[in-house]
Amino acid sequence: MRTQVAIIGAGPAGLLLGQLLHKNGIDNVIVERHTGEYVLGRVRAGVIEQVTMDLLDEAGVGERMHRDGLIHDGVQICVDGKRHHLSFKELTGKSVMVYGQTEITKDLMDGRAAVGAPTLYAAYDVALHDIHGGKPRVTFRKDGSTHEIECDFIAGCDGFHGISRKSVPPSAISNYERVYPLGWLGILSETPPVSEELIYVRHPRGFALCSMRSPTRSRYYIQCSLADDIESWPDERFWEELRPRLDDEAREALVTGPSIEKSIAPLRSFVAEPMRFGRLFLAGDAAHIVPPTGAKGLNLAASDVQYLARGLIEHYRDKSDSGLEHYSERALLRVWKAERFSWWMTTMLHRISDNPFDYQLQLADLDYLFRSKAAATAFAENYVGLPY
Ligand code: FAD
Ligand code: PHB
Repeated sequence: MRTQVAIIGAGPAGLLLGQLLHKNGIDNVIVERHTGEYVLGRVRAGVIEQVTMDLLDEAGVGERMHRDGLIHDGVQICVDGKRHHLSFKELTGKSVMVYGQTEITKDLMDGRAAVGAPTLYAAYDVALHDIHGGKPRVTFRKDGSTHEIECDFIAGCDGFHGISRKSVPPSAISNYERVYPLGWLGILSETPPVSEELIYVRHPRGFALCSMRSPTRSRYYIQCSLADDIESWPDERFWEELRPRLDDEAREALVTGPSIEKSIAPLRSFVAEPMRFGRLFLAGDAAHIVPPTGAKGLNLAASDVQYLARGLIEHYRDKSDSGLEHYSERALLRVWKAERFSWWMTTMLHRISDNPFDYQLQLADLDYLFRSKAAATAFAENYVGLPY
């Protein structure tokens, strides 16, 4: 098999890149380790920035997002039972949208199926070859036989645990990492959300987040221990732990019900530099991870893909490699801003240590955020997405 760009991974980064390239007449094949149903079963991101909305439109898959997505002009932060409101609209003139990653993935899968572009699901033992030579190749096993794809470029969109980053010699890559001693236990339930806006909660018992997927479907998270497993969190225990972390109004509005999904995600900050190795380009979680507190992961994946798609289009259409040469540097500038913001929100809102000094610092940080217009504007600009 031969293609122009071989894409590893059919998560949002790989599917979006495939769609943008296809729109611009660039041939691509996606190779994915799991089945399509498995990929669609993962419940993750909920908040998307304008840049992500624009790209989904550009990829021709924005229709359902505009119909079903919920525009959010601000966010609430609850500190020890008292709620504060931050208006993105007033502070930056911009908004974000609540539209689930599952829906985005489905829209991109449908868009890809409609144009007949190939995605090879359930492809095992994917391996990358000759990324520094002139003829890169991808090999894998599928349906009992071994296959090979020859290509011009490989896009590593295979997430944090993927094979692309691991195919690079360790001496060529610098990894920066912080692992937090906590996780997020999330549940999805067919119940109305407690509030029209998201509520981020800082509480002595630990962080909580009240989010949503629609006016009838809620998504809640609570800070949990890394040692916890799903079995030790029956629904009743989850609601009992969420309730005391909320303010009175939210507690009264809380409608509980059976969970339709439940999962635990560890919190991690991670950046691999550079994001280009010869003819291999890393994009999305394959190159960097942020803790979900800042709602940045999917948006970063989308902005990487934007830079990469532009670079590849320039290469084929204008015979210029300038975009590809600057890809890593350009993407990393945005990545580190999002890393900083996500780290800051995480350390400000979670119970990370038992040292009362740290708790007082969090309160001072939050008080500054609520009193200073400059601090609130900086928060809002980061949350809705920096323009560069
Ligand atoms: P992935 O979604 O991980 O996709 C990678 C794909 O590659 C997968 O399908 C995988 O199966 C495949 N793959 C892996 N290894 C191989 C291999 N060897 N061969 C072939 N295929 C392979 N982000 C936000 O922007 N906003 C939010 O509100 C938000 N909330 C979040 C909440 C939670 C609880 C979590 C866990 C994450 C959240 N994120 C959020 C982050 C967001 O989900 C990720 O950043 C996003 O999924 C990254 O997309 P990706 O395509 O780069 O990687
Ligand atoms: C979600 O709705 O899943 C969500 C929202 C905001 C975040 C993280 C996750 O910061």
